[in-house]
Amino acid sequence: MAFRWNNTLTRADATPYDAYLNRRQLMGGALGLGLVGAAGMGRAATSDLVPNSYEDITQYNNFYEFGTGKDDPARNAHMLTTSPWSVEIGGMVDNPGDYSMEQIMEAMTIEERIYRFRCVEAWSMVIPWNGFELADLLNLAGVQEGAKYVAFETALRKDEMPGTRFPILDWPYVEGLRLDEAMHPLTIMATGIYDKPIPNQNGAPIRLVVPWKYGYKSIKSIVRITVTDQQPPTAWNKALGHEYGFYSNVNPTVDHPRWSQATERLVGGGLFAKRQPTLMFNGYEDEIASLYEGMDLRVNH
Ligand code: MTE
Repeated sequence: MAFRWNNTLTRADATPYDAYLNRRQLMGGALGLGLVGAAGMGRAATSDLVPNSYEDITQYNNFYEFGTGKDDPARNAHMLTTSPWSVEIGGMVDNPGDYSMEQIMEAMTIEERIYRFRCVEAWSMVIPWNGFELADLLNLAGVQEGAKYVAFETALRKDEMPGTRFPILDWPYVEGLRLDEAMHPLTIMATGIYDKPIPNQNGAPIRLVVPWKYGYKSIKSIVRITVTDQQPPTAWNKALGHEYGFYSNVNPTVDHPRWSQATERLVGGGLFAKRQPTLMFNGYEDEIASLYEGMDLRVNH
């Protein structure tokens, strides 16, 4: 632990990040370990990762509802009203309805998960999320027999989201997971970063994080979750189906039609940093591979 945090201090220049690290160091070894990613699964998968700075994580984003430039979300996402907010949970569930953020936060246990995050564009970060397992929310809603998939939808507000005035994607942004992927303990709903409420540009007030899949599966600012027995459409698959499949698992051996996926650029690594090898399932192979046993991962990309 101590080595890890000291190591990060050399390139930590953002104040919130320094403050965070100092606090973590103060918490001390055993206590710190206990608090960071309490669940065994998340802990094992994330034990030796060095988080990117708060600056990197919140200034270099993809959130096309606010523009396609990497700095557009940080500049424009303040326009999004995130309170009040509710998530409509419906479809094949026992308790359908509008779940307010207050209700959700009250019912869920928030923990920290430090995950690798790999964008399909071949850049990556390490992000200390705060959130809860999606399975806990789905269990609250009560998934019914016969359900196979979970569909997600982002808010669509043309007056608050300038990017949605242009037909870049078929708005609203939608995503989907197989039910077993959605129920996996690594799959979380994030509501914070570095122990602060998640910034708008990162998907406030609540977004999905699926660490073994390309970043575009991790849909932001969710207003609707639908449990279904049909494979849901997904925004990037609808836009460019031959490039973006339903599964979108990080896989260094299956290239994007227009670029290699074998390596990645760690954001914040500096101008001369070497690209690093991309890991199968983004480094979560031990936990995840069994979900896809017997599947052709080239066909089901
Ligand atoms: N969700 C919505 N609603 N709109 C988007 O444009 N971009 C995706 C994903 N979720 C996106 C989205 C992509 S391509 C990536 S890489 C991640 O968000 C980026 O998350 P970050 O900005 O928090 O790093």
